[in-house]
Amino acid sequence: MNEIKKRVEELTKILNDANYNYYVLDNPTITDQEYDKYLRELMNIEKMYPQYAQTNSPTNRVGGEVIDKFKKVVHEKPMLSLSNVFSEEEIKEFDVKIKSDGYNPSYVCEYKIDGLSVALIYEKGKLIKGVTRGDGVTGEDITHNVKTIKSIPLILNKPIDIEVRGEIFMNKKTLYKLNEKRKQLGLPLLQNVRNAAAGSVRQLDSKETAKRELDNFIYNLPEADKFNIKTHLEALQFMKDLGFKVNSESKLAKNIDEVIEYVRKTTIKREKLAYEIDGIVIKVNDLNLQEKLGYTAKYPKWATAYKFPAQEVLTKLKDIIFTVGRTGRITPNAVLEPVIVMGSTISRATLHNEEYVKSKGLMIGDIVSIRKAGDVIPEVVEAKTSRRTGQEIPFKMIEKCPMCHEKIIKISGQADYYCINPSCPKRNIESIIHFVSRDAMNIEGMGDEIVEELYNLGFVKNIIDIYALKNKKEQIMEFDGYGEKSLNKIIDNIEKSKENSLERLLFGLGIKEIGTKTAKLLASYFKNIDNLMQANIDDLKDIKDVGQVTAGSVVSYFKDNISLINELKNIGINMDYKGKNAGSNDLVTGKKFVITGTISGIGRKEIKEKLESYNAKFSESVSKNTDIVIVGENPGSKYQEAQRLNIPIWNEEKLKEVLNNLQ
Ligand code: IVH
Repeated sequence: MNEIKKRVEELTKILNDANYNYYVLDNPTITDQEYDKYLRELMNIEKMYPQYAQTNSPTNRVGGEVIDKFKKVVHEKPMLSLSNVFSEEEIKEFDVKIKSDGYNPSYVCEYKIDGLSVALIYEKGKLIKGVTRGDGVTGEDITHNVKTIKSIPLILNKPIDIEVRGEIFMNKKTLYKLNEKRKQLGLPLLQNVRNAAAGSVRQLDSKETAKRELDNFIYNLPEADKFNIKTHLEALQFMKDLGFKVNSESKLAKNIDEVIEYVRKTTIKREKLAYEIDGIVIKVNDLNLQEKLGYTAKYPKWATAYKFPAQEVLTKLKDIIFTVGRTGRITPNAVLEPVIVMGSTISRATLHNEEYVKSKGLMIGDIVSIRKAGDVIPEVVEAKTSRRTGQEIPFKMIEKCPMCHEKIIKISGQADYYCINPSCPKRNIESIIHFVSRDAMNIEGMGDEIVEELYNLGFVKNIIDIYALKNKKEQIMEFDGYGEKSLNKIIDNIEKSKENSLERLLFGLGIKEIGTKTAKLLASYFKNIDNLMQANIDDLKDIKDVGQVTAGSVVSYFKDNISLINELKNIGINMDYKGKNAGSNDLVTGKKFVITGTISGIGRKEIKEKLESYNAKFSESVSKNTDIVIVGENPGSKYQEAQRLNIPIWNEEKLKEVLNNLQ
């Protein structure tokens, strides 16, 4: 064999082994100096003989690859989240529920690592892709950054095709060191280990990620059956043997009492760990039983996460300020002396309304206790009255809107005050922000700050003005920060939003009591806005899950807003429900589809939604009953199966052509 190629292979092995021993086993076998020497030698060879540079060379560890944009990747199997329990009692209930189905499982207890989940895909034992969880269906391709994480193997011990999932995280000490450096440089500090890890993997330049010293634990093997693995514990061992870093604290618990014992022990150990954990994950060990227990739309039923109780910290209540929401609701907010609770810096907390503040007897200047649990928003628990100095100022509810200075009113029977001035700037800005938001009209590019600026500049004073922006392009471009390209994009997205299905509009209008779920319910029931506007309270109450208050709110909204709806209609905004059963298309309606691989520019969820709205059916596997298989980039074995069974195949081009022809 060629001498150079041989040396490349030798060096690769030395460096990969050294990495594994140091970062996975925590058992260094060579010195840092030796490592650097070998790494430099390999880098030099790769520079002189690029033809020998391997895609998964250990030189990737130092970063170098820069991308200009994160590619979207659809997960082969969705990446689910976990249900939560908050007490020993709830842990027992989780067990009782499974037992009530007639099972008697043993569990695996694992640390719930506070980081971000990642899917790692290997082909023939080589790492080819790292993808973030994203929304669970579609994630972002972060391969270039994943390769810099030294505890993630670039090459496995066996040349197999496999996907594994786990958590990327940052050690507590690393965050501390990083923040010390940032302080010196005058950069904003990273709030907590999770944000720091998430920000680090979302760097376009992998050299930046390499500097962040990220780490990982692998805890999930989505296709264990492919390897004839029967239990979660076996899956962990299997992944460990392949070279992955698996947390050695994961333990088998024969019954729920052993789970609780593990939880208690870990609660004590937690502080001393090098990394942050926010709970314990409890998983049914038997994979067969896992399948039997199945899933809800979001969570597996065979696992749950026990979350550690909220931590309480004392700080000073410096002030109480008031904000105005889109409905005009006035909310008091606590301004706090910044304090770190559960790894996050807290300086604000909502105080909900006047009664809430009064019931807690809060005074400005009080020492208060703050509570925060994981992702949950911070809460002011109580004032430490024994620490009062006499300088505290009593709380007083305001009488005028802090934005427009009009008198605010309280609706009888309700706790909240409202600003009812229809031209209150803050109310209007908030309602426009709501209208364009993701779950409403989903106008990408119109972020909160842009909306506020366009409002202040007088271009968008209400939702009707959004649709006239295209006529004001030249004027807007005179202001700083508005390039033609970005403006065109926003205008395109505005135009596209006209085609949204009715429920998006209903939610976006900001009708009191109408969240996304009720909006969808109303849209699918009434099919178009005219039917809905003609409905009276009784008609509305006929719908399951719609009560008196919601029905009343809908009727009164449309009574007051007929002209707004007419204007929106004249602009050309769709007012029909386009969901299920809405359309019919010979190529799609009634057909059974299977998707494999990635389609560029469109997520799997979106494709499904669109085709399902034309009454298409989807299934996970190809059979002789499948009508069409959609094949994207990097398809799985479903592609071969489709060819074997002679099932019509749509490539990306064909799919997009069909989608374009649907409404
Ligand atoms: S299992 C289908 N195990 O917690 C089961 N998740 O709240 C998938 N996490 O999205 C998750 N440590 O990011 C699992 N040992 C562990 C975990 C863990 C941390 C994260 C993961 C997940 C989130 C759910």
